[in-house]
Amino acid sequence: MALKRNKITVVGAGFVGATAAHWAASNQLGDVVIVDIIEGMPQGKALDLRQAAPVVGFDSNVIGTNDYKDTADSDIVIITAGVPRKPGMSRDDLLAINTKIVKDVVTNIVKYSPNAILIIVSNPLDAMTYVAHKVSGFPANRVIGMAGVLDAARFRAFIAMELDVSVEDVNAFVLGGHGDTMVPLPRYSTVAGIPLPDLLPADKIEAMCKRTANGGAEIVNLLKTGSAFFAPSASAVEMVQSILLDKKRILPCCVYCDKEYGAGGYFVGVPAKLGKNGVEQIIEIKLTPEEKVAFDKSVAAVKELVKALPL
Ligand code: NAI
Ligand code: 2OP
Repeated sequence: MALKRNKITVVGAGFVGATAAHWAASNQLGDVVIVDIIEGMPQGKALDLRQAAPVVGFDSNVIGTNDYKDTADSDIVIITAGVPRKPGMSRDDLLAINTKIVKDVVTNIVKYSPNAILIIVSNPLDAMTYVAHKVSGFPANRVIGMAGVLDAARFRAFIAMELDVSVEDVNAFVLGGHGDTMVPLPRYSTVAGIPLPDLLPADKIEAMCKRTANGGAEIVNLLKTGSAFFAPSASAVEMVQSILLDKKRILPCCVYCDKEYGAGGYFVGVPAKLGKNGVEQIIEIKLTPEEKVAFDKSVAAVKELVKALPL
């Protein structure tokens, strides 16, 4: 019986892209194609990864290329191409340059993989996901931005560190846009099923929410030359896994919301079910009045960015 392997393309062979390729290949989610505009760089990283395979024990084929022909018939494409921020820059400062890059990438991907599902990582995330949807002409269930899994992972890590418990027992939700206005939801964050507000005082929770919203900048300020990549790439690959294995996980993702959450036709972070068709359901949860105010503020910030897009 011929078994068809999944084909995963990663565009952008920088920190996030190369690390995503590593997680995807080492978890044997499929064969991996890494694309970049820099000649030799994706080829070199792919070859290095192939040479890690015998040590780690995975059989995914990995190739690097500068030619989109090699990406043909991909099942899923992770787009990390773009410029990361430096200290003092916000994600929004990347709008003009990354819009141009994402337009170019998506146009090439669509030409060779018209049925692929796109996972966008490039920043500013919510606006770049909007761009990818517009440029691809794909149905909205096949265009998904990665942010909520990362933001929630940061919140989960801080909760586990504070309580000195296993990260495996910690769940958390962060909604809204991937910016300073993101909305961590302590009420829906649990440790072994116990709501966070039952375990920690309000001021501790508030401090962790702030640290989560500032999580990307904290790392940029430490690294000085780029932004986070281990947690972002692992988060993108968790979404890929849910889709390719049709796991139907409920993950916070940047997805198209029209009537949902009253977002009015924008891509924003909400809980979504990810399966073989991409976004299979948006889960609407009831927000408290304070949460609703914070969520609406975050959506308004996303709308402002989208309005400023040089499309
Ligand atoms: P990086 O600079 O290490 O890698 C970016 C790569 O994109 C480079 O290798 C560059 O040559 C390539 N590239 C540029 N233009 C291209 C084009 N037209 N076609 C193909 N490749 C192209 O940056 P890093 O750290 O990997 O970050 C990538 C992007 O992901 C940035 O925009 C960053 O802000 C974003 N990011 C988003 C996160 C999220 O939560 N959504 C988290 C972390 C990063
Ligand atoms: C992050 O949150 C920069 O968006 C990137 O780390």
